[in-house]
Amino acid sequence: MGEAPGTEAILAALGEVKSPDLDRDLVSLHLVHDLAYKQGTIYLTLRPSPPAEAARRHLEAEIKRVLLALPGVTGVELKHEPPRAAGAQPPAAEKIGVPGVRHIIAIGSGKGGVGKTTVSVNLAIALAEQGAAVGLMDADVYGPNVPRMMGINQMPRVVGGNRIEPLSQYGVRLISMGFLNPGDKPVIWRGPMLHSAVQQFLRQVAWGELDYLLIDLPPGTGDVALTLAQTTALTGAVVVTTPSDVSLEDGRKALNMFRYLNIEVLGLVENMGSFVCPHCRESVDIFSHGGGERMAAEFQTPFLGALPLDPQVRAGGDQGHPPAAEGPQAPAAKPYYELARRLAARAAEILPEPENWLHVRA
Ligand SMILES: Nc1ncnc2c1ncn2[C@@H]1O[C@H](COP(=O)(O)OP(=O)(O)OP(=O)(O)O)[C@@H](O)[C@H]1O
Ligand SMILES: [Mg+2]
Repeated sequence: MGEAPGTEAILAALGEVKSPDLDRDLVSLHLVHDLAYKQGTIYLTLRPSPPAEAARRHLEAEIKRVLLALPGVTGVELKHEPPRAAGAQPPAAEKIGVPGVRHIIAIGSGKGGVGKTTVSVNLAIALAEQGAAVGLMDADVYGPNVPRMMGINQMPRVVGGNRIEPLSQYGVRLISMGFLNPGDKPVIWRGPMLHSAVQQFLRQVAWGELDYLLIDLPPGTGDVALTLAQTTALTGAVVVTTPSDVSLEDGRKALNMFRYLNIEVLGLVENMGSFVCPHCRESVDIFSHGGGERMAAEFQTPFLGALPLDPQVRAGGDQGHPPAAEGPQAPAAKPYYELARRLAARAAEILPEPENWLHVRA
């Protein structure tokens, strides 16, 4: 037996192993715990371990391959610790909420362009119209679309020395990188900067008392979701998908990612599966019906609703006047109000309202 490998060499080797669900390496994801070396054997725990058996086996094989290649290593003892079961209480004491904010809900997808921002802005407006205090945080720092869709873009005020006052539009409090970095200059964000931008949006914005803080995530799996998962007590996440086969596959990836990160999946939204005729407002299925619903059933997660492809929704987004701002009776707005009611019910199920909640807010 050769000399024991140092911790650095072990971590460097593990740093080459990528999680298939998260598309990042195990070390930077902080998934490796309880690392020890004894008489030729490396002991470690993966926490959390991927929920899917196939992904677990893949990781196990990769970990063994890289570690057994190190001099002095003859065995690997790997312990898996699965993510907590759906509905169980989050264990992490280090995750903190935002003072005064009841539900923090992320809106994500596996793929870009499926309608996360459209869903976020219309949901936020619908929740606010129904009497809730709502904030919307645009976490897409690379390509912030919330200013355009909400029809507002100005520099927020700084209050109390270092707190940013959110803008307000259609009854929703808003923050976006677009407000702070106007113009077309691209911003290059690296991991740690992204982390601190997200933290500042959460903790240095004077959100006040909110029933819901919705977070519009950037496309894809990745850093923002990870940062949120590691630092913030979320009520959960909503996954938006379109019913084309590829997108459902990406939606699956997003569901796996949230499960992996111990973020409760509040449910699935299918967007643009049917088409609403702008003239007669009749709805036509474009894709085979029910893909989103089947996927929700497969993942044992609630199906929160199907939103039609509606030219009025796109035009409203482009003009900064989302249909939900027309009120619950407007035909284009209706599906979003239904979605808002289902989401509110689901959030209350995960994090029940304290009995005196209404009284406190009154
Ligand atoms: N239900 C819908 N009906 C009509 N148009 C829609 C609908 N949903 C989204 N769109 C349009 O599709 C485009 C993409 O939507 P959106 O920007 O909301 O997606 P996204 O997932 O946030 O994209 P990204 O990944 O780039 O952030 C926009 O032009 C939007 O107006
Ligand atoms: Mg978007």
